[in-house]
Amino acid sequence: MTAYEIPRPTHGDVVELILDDHRLFEALLRDLRDATADREAARAALSAALIAHGEAEEEKVYTQLKRKRAISEDEKEHGEEEHAEGNEKLLALLECRGTDTQKFDDAVEELATALNHHIGEEEQTILNPAREEVSQEVRDELGAVWATRRNELLDEDCGSEENVRRIVEKAHEEGLLPAEDEDE
Ligand SMILES: [Fe+2]
Ligand SMILES: [Fe+2]
Repeated sequence: MTAYEIPRPTHGDVVELILDDHRLFEALLRDLRDATADREAARAALSAALIAHGEAEEEKVYTQLKRKRAISEDEKEHGEEEHAEGNEKLLALLECRGTDTQKFDDAVEELATALNHHIGEEEQTILNPAREEVSQEVRDELGAVWATRRNELLDEDCGSEENVRRIVEKAHEEGLLPAEDEDE
C-alpha cells in the first residue's frame, strides 16, 4: 500500500487551498527526516504535490492576481524564482539513490530551507493581498481553476524525476535560476 494519498480538492477559497498544501509539504518534510517512515513514498508524494501546486500557482493564481493588480510584476517574478530554486533542490533530492545516506539527509534539509522560506514569504506577500484585495467570489473562482489545473498535473505524473529535470532546465533557459553553479 502506498502511505500517501495526496488530497485532490476541486474547489474552495484559493487561499485556504494553498495553505492546506503548504501544511502538507511541512508534514511530508517531517516524514522525510524520519528514518522509520516510508521515505521513498514521502519523496514521491512531495515531488508530485510540490510541482502540481507551484505550476498551477504560476499559471492560474500569480497571473490573475497580477492582472487584478493585487500583486506586482516583481512579486510574481520573485515567486517564480523561488519555485525554480525549490524545484532545483527537489531534483537533487530525487537524484539521491536510496534514502539511508547523508546525501539524502542533506538534500532534504536544502529543500526544506528553500521551501520553508518560500511558503512563508508567499503567505505574507501573495496570500495577504489575495485576502485583502480580492473578493470572496474571485478567491473561489481562483480556487476552482487552481485546483483543476493541479489535479490535471497530478494525473500527468508531474513529479517524476524526468519531468522535474525538464522544468528545472526550462527555468535555467528562462533565466529564473543563476547560470550553472560554478562553485559546485
Ligand atoms: Fe504555495
Ligand atoms: Fe509557491
